[in-house]
Amino acid sequence: MRVLFTGGSGKAGKHVVAYLAAQGHKVLNVDRVPLRMAGVGDLVADITDAGQMFNAMVTHIDGAELDGGAPPKFDAVVHFAAIPALMLQPDNETYRVNVIGTYNVIEAAVKLGIKKIIIASSETTYGVCFSDGIVDPKVLPLEEDYDIDPMDSYGMSKKVNEATARSFQRRSGADIYALRIGNVIEPHEYRDRFPGFFADPGQRRRITFSYIDARDLGQIVDLALKKDGLGWQVFNACNDTNSVCQSNQELLARFFPKVPLSRPVKAHESLLSNRKIREVLGFKEQHNWRNYIDDPTV
Ligand SMILES: NC(=O)c1ccc[n+]([C@@H]2O[C@H](COP(=O)([O-])OP(=O)(O)OC[C@H]3O[C@@H](n4cnc5c(N)ncnc54)[C@H](O)[C@@H]3O)[C@@H](O)[C@H]2O)c1
Repeated sequence: MRVLFTGGSGKAGKHVVAYLAAQGHKVLNVDRVPLRMAGVGDLVADITDAGQMFNAMVTHIDGAELDGGAPPKFDAVVHFAAIPALMLQPDNETYRVNVIGTYNVIEAAVKLGIKKIIIASSETTYGVCFSDGIVDPKVLPLEEDYDIDPMDSYGMSKKVNEATARSFQRRSGADIYALRIGNVIEPHEYRDRFPGFFADPGQRRRITFSYIDARDLGQIVDLALKKDGLGWQVFNACNDTNSVCQSNQELLARFFPKVPLSRPVKAHESLLSNRKIREVLGFKEQHNWRNYIDDPTV
């Protein structure tokens, strides 16, 4: 597929773009900073500028396309560009960039007739991660039909973006899928950070202990690109197990003693449930942390 990818120069995007390119997709990265990855086009542009987004979606990727005349149409847009967390920029700026940027990207895509749009939402929409104070989820595991109610500007921006995407899907009939991405882990982070998580699992409480390997996120995006006809969808995007070695029975008793379970959970299954991506998209994780670092309990 010919794919326009926003935010491909970032932490998650650079791994996802590499994965998509390796699957044979032709990718244009649209970002404020270039990625400079062999075989991938770069266009420096700002998602908060609607004119730039319309323009980006009718542009050539490389010289070979220029030789062919008018630019070919994009088959899909993957939208990752954002301020990716709270406390990086002032709250109103995080909200502005994420909400206006996402509106601009989706509007340009649907008005130009692009039929597949994947957007990066976030597990923070569940309202635990960036809440003021120590907040319990209403129920565990976190599944996609949860009544999301974040209180912070980043989580709010992602919730609003899901509403925007859903409205554009109704208007256009395009497939628009939002990925509620878990905490993204790059390959080097297993050795750098996981021993600390094992020693102090409490630091992972706000993300209900989950994670997504950046390369497995690539697989999820690729599967979503290939899965047509689902209309509007939300998918949690995370690995099969938690990012700590303690069992769910220990974690629930210690950190979430008052939170009800909607169903029994296995000893180590991710409390941000990835059941839907496995059952609907056919996700099969390739990069569980146990492949890269020893489980100290074994
Ligand atoms: N990293 C995580 O753990 C995590 C978790 C859940 C969701 N997400 C979401 O995944 C996406 C990618 O996150 P990331 O960790 O790679 O973030 P990142 O900050 O590393 O990458 C974001 C990219 O977007 C670009 N960008 C920012 N503002 C822009 C603008 N106005 N115009 C054009 N480009 C702009 C940046 O230059 C950067 O390359 C984001 O939407 C984020 O909210 C990330």
